[in-house]
Amino acid sequence: MKQSVVIEADQKIARINPNIYGHFAEHLGHCVYEGIWVGNDSAIENRNGIRCDVVDALRRIKPPVVRWPGGCFADDYHWQDGIGRRENRPERINVHWGGVIDNNHFGTHEFMDFCAQIGAEPYVCGNMGSGSVREMRDWIEYMNCADNSTLARLRGKNGHPEPFSVKYFGIGNENWGCGGSMSPDYYAHEVRRYSTFLYSFGVQPFHRIACGPSGDDPSWTRRFFEVLSGYAGGFSRLSSIQGFALHYYCGTAGTATEYTDDQWYELLAKAMKIESILVRHRAIMDGFDPERKIGLVIDEWGTWHPVIEGTNPRFLRQQNTIRDALVAALSLDIFNRNADKVVMTNIAQTVNVLQAMILTRGSDILLTPTYHVYEMYAAHQGADSVPCRVKTDRITFETITGKSSLPTLAGSCSRTDDGITLSLVNTHVSEPVEVSVDLRGVSKTELRSWRVLASDDIHDHNTFEEPENVKPVDEDITSSTIELQPASVSVLIYSVD
Ligand code: AHR
Repeated sequence: MKQSVVIEADQKIARINPNIYGHFAEHLGHCVYEGIWVGNDSAIENRNGIRCDVVDALRRIKPPVVRWPGGCFADDYHWQDGIGRRENRPERINVHWGGVIDNNHFGTHEFMDFCAQIGAEPYVCGNMGSGSVREMRDWIEYMNCADNSTLARLRGKNGHPEPFSVKYFGIGNENWGCGGSMSPDYYAHEVRRYSTFLYSFGVQPFHRIACGPSGDDPSWTRRFFEVLSGYAGGFSRLSSIQGFALHYYCGTAGTATEYTDDQWYELLAKAMKIESILVRHRAIMDGFDPERKIGLVIDEWGTWHPVIEGTNPRFLRQQNTIRDALVAALSLDIFNRNADKVVMTNIAQTVNVLQAMILTRGSDILLTPTYHVYEMYAAHQGADSVPCRVKTDRITFETITGKSSLPTLAGSCSRTDDGITLSLVNTHVSEPVEVSVDLRGVSKTELRSWRVLASDDIHDHNTFEEPENVKPVDEDITSSTIELQPASVSVLIYSVD
């Protein structure tokens, strides 16, 4: 099969906000506890209780931002529980995720330390569902205030006199569901009220991020903005938020590791739906906010498979195959191509939960195929997205509801002064694809590197016994043709004169 890619390297869609490569860590299963936090006394090597192997691995993928503490957990979390001497912190029941005890040893200071260690900005999600305006407002003062206030002094007493300078703050999570079962009207009115008191305490820019829809629910987005903008009566409070965050999980087809060829395609096609969803919701937002002062965020996305057999079903621990890697690559390509419409995304979740970067077992650690995509795609962060037109045929497959199809080849392209990064995905389970790349708008280019993530079997994944089963390799750049292996992700970097 021969396909082609035309790149207009002298045209710019928008800068790819590095935050598009963001992460999400919730108090859920073994994401925070065991995955990130082991405590100072652990035999596992740690720095201030945070495991060093996880920090080292995450640093390599340049995480720009991490969202915490949830998820559903956020709207049942009271930040005062997680500060002060650890032995004095209360033990609470994690009602959403298995009813297990959370001893609150990982709280605000520990999260900020984690972010500092991995080099990421913190994105804190506040509790609207079961909290109060005052509680949320005080948390921000505690984290951001540089003045001599009681809350700022308390932060100092707890070990951090300098403000944490949090720039990203969520006003609740999934408030249409686990965050309070609210209607869009009700939530929008609450956002009007809450945001009135959510001062930045001197941090600029400060992004208040409101809860968006569950997947493709235009009625939530439309009604929320109608109420916020004053269309439904009252004055506009549009300027009270700087971000609006939708969630989209593409789910599963088959199980995490067992699927037919058709189910392989089905899941990739479901993942690719995120493009029409983000375009539709940005278009609705444009009707109220044509200058795009409010950024579209996708602060939870990824695959959601049945859990690994024998594990707690509420811990959402799943394996991660080369198919998940292609889901990640196709999604990141979509975000790159729509860099003018999306400002941040956070894949769910960082360690041991859903489409994780890392799985841990005691002191063991493995990097998932999804991790490798983030490492390979890091060159796109902060680069200018340029138009990349892919001419491809489509693969037809069967689902229980009938026939469907998806493109064989997809990708995205970005440019810096240093060079051009082209990422390409061959979705075909068994056929290689030969690609002709037409790089326009640049005088002289040379292929500098070509990294490939592929596998002999479409079910391949990494295990603690074979942690390097799926890992990227360097491809021969002297070859005159670009032939993409079946079921593979490639990143090609060109130098430009
Ligand atoms: O990521 C797991 C859960 O999925 C989150 O807690 C919630 O926001 C979403 O429904």
